[in-house]
Amino acid sequence: MKELIDNNHSLKDVIFEVAEIADYLWQRGWAERNAGNISVNITGLIGEHLSNMDPFPSFELPQPYSELAGEYFFVSGTGKRMRDLAREPLQNALIIRIDDKGSRYHILSRDEGHISGFKPTSELPTHLGIHRMIILRDSKEKVVIHTHANELVALTQIEKFCNEESLNKLLWGMHPETMVFIPEGVGFVPYVTPGTEQIAEATLKALENHHVVLWEKHGVFAIGSTAFDTFDLIDILGKSAKIFFLARSSGYEPQGLTEEQLEVLKELSANF
Ligand code: 13P
Ligand code: ZN
Repeated sequence: MKELIDNNHSLKDVIFEVAEIADYLWQRGWAERNAGNISVNITGLIGEHLSNMDPFPSFELPQPYSELAGEYFFVSGTGKRMRDLAREPLQNALIIRIDDKGSRYHILSRDEGHISGFKPTSELPTHLGIHRMIILRDSKEKVVIHTHANELVALTQIEKFCNEESLNKLLWGMHPETMVFIPEGVGFVPYVTPGTEQIAEATLKALENHHVVLWEKHGVFAIGSTAFDTFDLIDILGKSAKIFFLARSSGYEPQGLTEEQLEVLKELSANF
């Protein structure tokens, strides 16, 4: 891994950015124990591509990802803590390369004794599925963040908000910036066991028209061009949910923005 990173300032910047975001997730209280994971497609930042993958350990993927053949990812390790990723990103994340067939991944960080044996996040099927979708539709996102954002998860414990329509009506209504920055709203994925192909499939479907999806009773998945942009989306939505709970816990029913006010904000968003 060291050879890949040394003198590669763009890659170093991306890794430091991920570390900074990992710290925000921890500071927000969204990252208990090993909660959450982050992946970044770093293929465009790899200067000299490695020609011989044989020295690096490889593992079979649960399904082939032929569109990801030869792609490189910086991805958090399973069981790793966000607060540790923040301090020591290279010891709590991996650089992996998908093999030429798209059916296995190589861990390129094997030679670093202290991180050998680490595996990528258990949510790898969802992360890779999303990166494949981004490549197939040729859009510019590079970063995928999963976190357990408290107020957003709390909303998905309330049955009446477990659908996209009422969820978005509520979130848009709590703060003008939510409509301005997230006019397409959030997608909603009904509860599925984490780490499975099924949750990956449901998430991909919900992400077709959104940048953020909520996993019922679990967390958030968001995509963006940079780690900062991706975090901002979750932060804005989290703020709306927090305002809702603040108003409710002080004994009042929040009014929400009116349809007319939201329409104006939507127009504003289109010209932003
Ligand atoms: P990992 O430690 O495998 O990344 O899992 C954390 C998590 O949030 C699972 O949904
Ligand atoms: Zn999770």
